[in-house]
Amino acid sequence: MKTNAGVSVWRLVRAARTRELDSTDTMQAESSPYVDAVRAVRVGELTADEAANQLITMMTDSEILGLLDGDSPRLVLPFIPILLDRVPFVAGAVSRLGIPGIRFSDGGRGVVIGASTAFPVTIARAATWDPSLEERVGVAIGLETRARGANYSASVCVNLLRHPAWGRAQECYGEDPVLTARMGSALTQGVRVNTMACVKHFALNSMENERFEVDVAVDEHSLHEVYLPHFKAVVDAGADSVMSSYNRVRGEYMDVNRALLTDVLRHEWGFSGFVTSDWVFGTHDAVVSLEAGMDVEMPLRLLRARALPAALHHGDLARSTMLQSARRILRTCVQHAATREPAVPTRAVIASPAHRALAHEVATESIVLLKNEAVGAAPLLPLAPATRHLAVIGRLAAQANLGDHGSSRVRPPSTVSPLQGLREALPGVRITTTNGRDERRAASLAAAAETAIVVVGLDQHDEGESVVTGGVDVGVLGREFRSGPLRRLLIGLAHLASRFVRGGDRSSLNLRPSDERLIHVVVTANPRTVVVLVSGSAILTETWRDRVPALLFAWYGGMEGGRALASVLTGSEEPGGRLPFVLPTDTAHLPFFDSTAKSVVYDNQWGQRRLDGQGHRPAYPFGFGLGYTNIEHRLIDHTLDDSGGNANVHVANNGNRKGSTVVQVYAADVSLRRPVAQLLGFRKVTLEPGAETTVRVDLDAGPTLQRDSTTRRWSARSGEWALQASQHSPDSWENAVSLRCTEGLIDQEGISDGKPV
Ligand code: BGC
Repeated sequence: MKTNAGVSVWRLVRAARTRELDSTDTMQAESSPYVDAVRAVRVGELTADEAANQLITMMTDSEILGLLDGDSPRLVLPFIPILLDRVPFVAGAVSRLGIPGIRFSDGGRGVVIGASTAFPVTIARAATWDPSLEERVGVAIGLETRARGANYSASVCVNLLRHPAWGRAQECYGEDPVLTARMGSALTQGVRVNTMACVKHFALNSMENERFEVDVAVDEHSLHEVYLPHFKAVVDAGADSVMSSYNRVRGEYMDVNRALLTDVLRHEWGFSGFVTSDWVFGTHDAVVSLEAGMDVEMPLRLLRARALPAALHHGDLARSTMLQSARRILRTCVQHAATREPAVPTRAVIASPAHRALAHEVATESIVLLKNEAVGAAPLLPLAPATRHLAVIGRLAAQANLGDHGSSRVRPPSTVSPLQGLREALPGVRITTTNGRDERRAASLAAAAETAIVVVGLDQHDEGESVVTGGVDVGVLGREFRSGPLRRLLIGLAHLASRFVRGGDRSSLNLRPSDERLIHVVVTANPRTVVVLVSGSAILTETWRDRVPALLFAWYGGMEGGRALASVLTGSEEPGGRLPFVLPTDTAHLPFFDSTAKSVVYDNQWGQRRLDGQGHRPAYPFGFGLGYTNIEHRLIDHTLDDSGGNANVHVANNGNRKGSTVVQVYAADVSLRRPVAQLLGFRKVTLEPGAETTVRVDLDAGPTLQRDSTTRRWSARSGEWALQASQHSPDSWENAVSLRCTEGLIDQEGISDGKPV
């Protein structure tokens, strides 16, 4: 039921406290037309479409219009940050009919409401290269979301990492469309067991500071072959909802971008769920956005509540347009409620021992070991069992550093820092520590210890979602926000918030100068130095990498991150991660990035592909990561046509300890002077020492195809394509085999005349 505009904010806050805005399940316990509709769909008496139509016939126009935006009044606007981590935001509840509405919760690294399990951030999970693990994370996030009274989780972010300076890089799965597609689909499938899954931010949203304004120009090939395939994959995996992004694409804000929201998303891909706007500033026109295919204005009664009743009355909004969106929303909600896991979770699932154990497992699997040289007889890691004295040094050593403080922030009941993790794991070892501000002290502690561990990197001040973005036109909020006290209050609060939460795009890809100095100081004092990097994307290592024997990427590792790091450093677990992006030697090897740009061109020259095409060697290639054992890969055979295929790869653990590897299969047009590697598939495998096996890797043909913008048909890209199994993006194609001998052509059903070899 719509809360009328006069309702006090106090009532909402109180509602949050008492959980008056309760879950779908509470509502379903009673009998109501909605509950009956869900039951009828569950037992097969009605289709979800029929059930939605039936409900619509019982609704007044005002109730139907109420489905199309958030339920809380605009006065709640300044209180969004306070409410977001306390209560689901509701859109389209109609209590008269028992319709619970969309009950929203973020986010990507766990549930933002209350004290929930904080998983490693999304990019860390990308580094696991393990979709089945990601699906388990999805199940856990969906379960905790539902236990908090929400039925909709905006946790699936599949924007591509076009440049590592993007402030929200930590919320995505890195630079590769196939990796992003598989991981995002796995999360979606997991989340959907309990709640509806929302995939965001559609589309081409990978700059932060100007996210509300920036206009992305993109050619047809790059749009469909680089920036959209993973969105389609997640839609195919069953995403219930899509969130439109704030930015513009080809001159149109995404909420009014009919070309993408309707022509591509619905007509070309067949998406049948509903689209919501990104919050507050993401709806630009009440009627035009609805006509373009954006169904729900989130999260408050802002533009639509004001404009739609009159537009409907005067015929400026077609009744069929309103009904079409209402049908999409109700059909999706009913369908999901009828098919989700029937058991309703209690709050005991939140941050339960099982979920903490999962957070630990994921963090371990995400840690990427980039360098591990011998100092003396053996590689520095894992730490020698005889170690008696460690120095743990650095600004981030004793910190709970879980990621940015934007909308995906999770506040877990407890967190383990790297220092605490090491202390727990090594109770008999003397551990000395300093934050490194006093470099002389850092040097003397390092010199006195057998091994020094330096924990440095980024935090919420260096990168993250930007709370305040320059030049936001608060005019979109309505007349009273263009001037007057509300506007002043809003701007005042935004500026106040910006003092605490900086975030935004990164101004540099290097460590802070003080962190770089600290590394030099410590390694000079003790050559047995391990550097642990904490961040949400690439950090350039050129000015110090050669000096340190061991280097790991530990990301924002979640509430169990410190324990996971300790288990990797001590060797009780393997560093299971592989880079989900290339680590270049120079920013100049990446696309130009201007965080103040109001317009930008996206093309197909980004990440590892750009380095390949321009002939730059990376510091560490995409997909790279070491383990503690020695594993070899050999491609045996493969089949591939334009609809996909698979490869058999022989994998042998030639080392003397158990270990994992990620079998990666790449293709490239080797007729080019500089072949550009395209990841087609991957599979993580763990082997006992001396064991060998053959793994089957599913291949996605997408990166070898091109889309004809007139016919919308996909066909093989020309060239001499070759395929290779590898442990990271290849720097040589000498061992590659031919991928296909003729140019194939597929129709929309995926029938190919291309001949796999
Ligand atoms: C973010 C979304 C998020 C929403 C609600 C927006 O600012 O861009 O990712 O889901 O806030 O928290």
